[in-house]
Amino acid sequence: MSWQQRIETALAQRRESQTLRSRSVVAQGCGRWLERDGQRWRNFSSNDYLGLSQHPAVVAAWQDGARRYGVGSGGSGHITGYSEAHQHLERQLAQWLGYPRALLFISGFAANHAVISALAQSEDMLVADRLSHASLLEAASQSPAQLRRFAHNDTAALQRLLAKSCTGQRLVITEGVFSMDGDSAPLAEIAAATRQAGAWLMVDDAHAAGVTGDGGRGSCAQAQWRPELQVVTFGKAFGVSGAAVLCSEPLADYLLQFARHLIYSTAMPPAQATAVSAALEVIASDEGEALRARLCSHIQRFRQGAAGLPLQLTDSSTAIQPLIVGDNEAALVMAQRLRERGFWVNAIRPPTVPPGTARLRLTLSAAHQNEDIDALLEVLHGIGE
Ligand SMILES: Cc1ncc(COP(=O)(O)O)c(C=O)c1O
Repeated sequence: MSWQQRIETALAQRRESQTLRSRSVVAQGCGRWLERDGQRWRNFSSNDYLGLSQHPAVVAAWQDGARRYGVGSGGSGHITGYSEAHQHLERQLAQWLGYPRALLFISGFAANHAVISALAQSEDMLVADRLSHASLLEAASQSPAQLRRFAHNDTAALQRLLAKSCTGQRLVITEGVFSMDGDSAPLAEIAAATRQAGAWLMVDDAHAAGVTGDGGRGSCAQAQWRPELQVVTFGKAFGVSGAAVLCSEPLADYLLQFARHLIYSTAMPPAQATAVSAALEVIASDEGEALRARLCSHIQRFRQGAAGLPLQLTDSSTAIQPLIVGDNEAALVMAQRLRERGFWVNAIRPPTVPPGTARLRLTLSAAHQNEDIDALLEVLHGIGE
């Protein structure tokens, strides 16, 4: 097949299986409302769980940072791109989560790739939850190490894999809260199994950092376990973008030598680091506590109201509340009906989720009002029937 034929065939296959992805141009995509073409929808699709993307202190911090540093970092952190703002944020994060070190990355995708590629060697075994994020599974499968996947949240299956022989090192990989199901990993059990096997644990806490656990410290704090590697991202509850890897002193020094995404890529703008610092201050404050309480009450309100729906909820107590539809086309039709009634909800289909589990990935935010949740439930009951 020529390049042209290969590309056209792949697109045709996606169209045929109702899995063609597309983007929508928005005037505003975060917060309570999604705005587009002069219209607005109640936004149930963004990961802005605390509404911080529009928080005045976070916005002002970015503006102040831009005035002070300009809008770019000017290079990789190894050249001229590591500013006082980056260092301050790394120290703040390390202290907040109780780690010796934090290293900033431009995104969670880059952080996961960088860490796995820097660590894994051919004699090693990477043992990942089957539903781990694409960035983790992709990095693991591209690495020279052997990748073994265990059934979702199944510690016994993990233990069986850890009992297999391996001449190198083993790294267990999971998310704290799963991005497409919203359920939480049994971290205390996973950590115990990992420790017993003498392996290391890497937890991607993208969807829990800022939201769950004491002071919003996330899933690991909740499980009272500090894994060897923790990844937090800033594009969700922090309302900005970027990520950090939390780890030991020697591991941070090692990543500074071998994590190629840090070395061969422009660092995040310092102004962005100041905005993330401001977001962290809100998260760690009484205001952050109040935002989490508000989000929690929305989650309870939604789950109570959705109990009678003829659609399957997942075992989620988090801001991610997917409704499993199954069929791709049915999920698209439901998303469209919701849009027609004023709600922005995305249908998530394979290959992002396993075949036959297309879903409406609803996300709740502290930026919502009770009336938003009630209006959504009313429409879902109508559509479900
Ligand atoms: C679990 C998880 N890890 C990593 C990422 C990637 O993070 P980022 O958006 O910062 O690249 C995402 C999604 O965006 C995610 O859901």
